[in-house]
This record gives sequence, C-alpha cells and structure tokens, in this order.
Amino acid sequence: MDKLRITGGRTLKGEVTISGAKNAALPEMCAALLTDEPVRLLNVPRLHDVATMRRLLNNMGVKTETHGERGGMSFQAADPIQPEAPYELVKTMRASVLALGPLLARFGHAKVSLPGGCAIGSRPVDQHIKGLQAMGAEIVVEHGYMVARLPQGRSRLHGARIATDMVTVTGTENFLMAAALAEGETLLENAAQEPEIPDLCEMLIAMGAKIEGHGTSRIHIQGVERLHGCTHQVVADRIEAGTFLCAVAATGGDVVLRHANAHHLDAVIDKLLEAGAEIEAGAEAAGAFIRIRSTGRLKAQSFRTTEYPGFPTDMQAQFMALNCIAEGTAKVTETIFENRFMHVNELVRLGARIQTDGKVAVVEGIDRLSGATVMATDLRASASLVIAGLVAEGQTVVDRIYHLDRGYDQMEEKLRGIGADIVRFK
Ligand code: EPU
Repeated sequence: MDKLRITGGRTLKGEVTISGAKNAALPEMCAALLTDEPVRLLNVPRLHDVATMRRLLNNMGVKTETHGERGGMSFQAADPIQPEAPYELVKTMRASVLALGPLLARFGHAKVSLPGGCAIGSRPVDQHIKGLQAMGAEIVVEHGYMVARLPQGRSRLHGARIATDMVTVTGTENFLMAAALAEGETLLENAAQEPEIPDLCEMLIAMGAKIEGHGTSRIHIQGVERLHGCTHQVVADRIEAGTFLCAVAATGGDVVLRHANAHHLDAVIDKLLEAGAEIEAGAEAAGAFIRIRSTGRLKAQSFRTTEYPGFPTDMQAQFMALNCIAEGTAKVTETIFENRFMHVNELVRLGARIQTDGKVAVVEGIDRLSGATVMATDLRASASLVIAGLVAEGQTVVDRIYHLDRGYDQMEEKLRGIGADIVRFK
C-alpha cells in the first residue's frame, strides 16, 4: 500500500493547475448512457474514481477512449448495453448509483447494486428511489440490488414534481438525467445547487435536453424523446482548489491556482480572509485564477457545513487542519454527514487539541504540530492529514493514501511543484 512521507515546515510558492472536478466528471460520464451517439468530455481528472466509473461503463458495453493530454475521454453507449451495475464495482464507489437514472430513462430497466456502508455516514439512497418512483418507475430491492423497470405498456418515464426530504447532490443528478428523457415536465424542488449541478445541466442541454432554473433550488426539465452526442468541458474542481488554499494558508507562502473559480468557493474564501490570508481572484487570458498569500499565524475560524452555497462538507477536514495551528479556538459543526470527524483522532496523534461531541468539534489552536505516522480514513480526511503533515515539525507518514488517489489528481506532484517536501513510497 502506498504511503506519503512529508517533511513539514516548507512554505509554498508558485503555481498549481487545478484539474476537472471529480464530482462533475462522474455524473457526466453517466450522462453518456443517455444517447447512442459519441459523447466527448474534456478536462477529465486522472483519478481512481474516474477509472472505476470507466470500468463500470465498459462492463455495461459502453466503448470508451482517452485522447490528448488535457483529460479528453470519449464514450459511446451504442446497443447492445447491459443496464447493470454489479456490487463488485459499486461497493468501491458510491457514485455508481448515478447510473440508475440514465439507464432507466433510456432502456426502461436497470439493475444497480445498493452501495452498502460508507466511512463518513450511512448515506442511504431512499430519495433516489422515491424520486424515480414518482416518475413512474417500479423499483424493488432484492438480493442487494435496486431492480427498476417501467410498468407494462410504458416505454418512458413520465415527468413529476419531486421534492426531496433533504438536498441531495447525486439524487438531483439522477433526477435530471432521468427527466431529460422522460415524457412531459419534471419540477425538481429543493434541488442541489452545487456548481457540479449546473455543469451537468450545461452538458445535458448541449445533448438536446430542455432545462431551466439550474443553479437554483427549482429546476424545470421538459423531457425530450432523444438526446444526441456532445463535447463538454468538465468544470474545475472547487474542492481541490479549496484544499490547496488551506494548505498555503497553513504553511504560509504565495501560490496562484490556475483554472480555479473563486466564486465556487465563496464560503471558504470568506473564512480564509477572516483568518488573515490575502486572496485575490479574477480572470485572464489563461482562464480564472485565485492567488493566495499567507504570512504569520492565522486566526482560527468557526464554521458550520451546509449545502452550497454554504461551507462545503468536503472542505471541513482540510479547514480543521488549518484551525489546529491557528491562533484561538474554533467550533466546527458538521451537519451533512454523521460520521465525518474520523480525521480528528489522527490530527490528535500529530498533537492537535480537538474535542468532539456529536456534530461539533472544538479545536484549540496550538503553535505547532509534531510529525507522526497517521492513517487516512477517507478522501477528504486524507487531504487534511497531508495539510497537517506540511506544517508539522519533522516527518509525517500518511498511510492508506489510496483514499487520496480516489479524488485528487497528482496531489503530491502538484505540492512538490510549489516547494513541498513530499514523497510517495511503498
Ligand atoms: N441522503 C439521504 N437519502 C438519500 C440521499 C441522501 O438520506 O437518498 C442524505 C445523506 O446521507 C447525507 C445528505 O443526504 O446526509 C446529503 O447527501 P448527498 O446525497 O447530497 O451526498 P452524495 O450525493 O452522496 C455528493 C458528493 C460528496 C459530497 C456530498 C455533499 C458526489 C459523487 N459525491 O455525495 O462528495 O460530500 O455530495 O456535498 O458528488 C467527496 O467528494 O469526498 C464526497 C464525499
């Protein structure tokens, strides 16, 4: 199993190019199931989760190809397609549930494994099932699989008003893809507004879908009979950008993030500014950028994770690492997932002072962390341990970094490029 060895204490300087967003690429790969024509994505990040999704699609009979340097990947879901997602693949990546909506909408039946347990919370898919049932699907859970089909005599899902009990990102994405090919109009109330949602909608619109209101909590979809191929560029990964911002804020330094959209990170940037970092953002010929400068010790910041545009749960662990060495005490409240503090015990091994009580972690900033061996437990927890390692005195070894490889595109190369002392070893 690969590990990372980090020698802390270096300030970071230079430029990093942000990759395409994992959480946009995964649904967009599934959207290729909606047509038999070729679909081409650009800026697809090089990640394990993307490789898993590609395997899942290949397993159904989708032809895929990579092209070019800049993350080009094409897909063709021409018949025959076997509309099934087996447990062996789904268990390693929950986002496989995103195949359910498009398969059902195009083929009228689908069999997708239930994802099972997850480190950060129970993460049920009841809302996905309820929403697709409202569109006319018959779904039963048997032998660990969601088996979905249309009633006898029907060839398409029908439009519906879907108001989910909570905001769900992949749920909204499943409904959007299903509604794009359904008969009639669908209204999504309480829709997720994360930037990956409007990005998926732009792609679906380029395929011929009729969608309005994306980027708000009410989305209208007028179903069409057929969708066609398209070329679409995956939006920049706001969580990767936010992770680098926290890393530089913690170590000190001066770094420009290329292809990073500051507007998608408003809640995180506001906290970094309050903490005392200097941030400027804008657009130039090469695209959007964010520059961060940080000197001296920053002030600890309390925050509460909420749906977009609030503070993202996917940035909670990384910002907590920053709070560990900031001045003062901060209260971090996690409201999205019930078990997303697994990095806390590992940060404590590095000397951090953190007390948790249910959804709340109280972090008392200290002068310095001290390097140790720590264990990554999930994707964003791994990123927080890397940040902690970058500021800790001496050497930190982060074990089980396969979690990191699921969702960060060449993180250690990018960090080395801006001056970090970080190496991968077995
Ligand atoms: N929920 C239910 N029932 C459902 C769906 C969701 O109870 O049917 C609950 C979840 O258990 C959770 C809350 O609703 O408590 C929100 O979950 P959501 O459905 O929005 O999460 P997700 O779609 O499974 C995506 C990202 C996550 C990110 C969350 C929240 C993808 C592939 N994954 O998950 O990303 O944390 O939204 O923003 O888009 C990550 O990248 O590290 C990651 C975990």
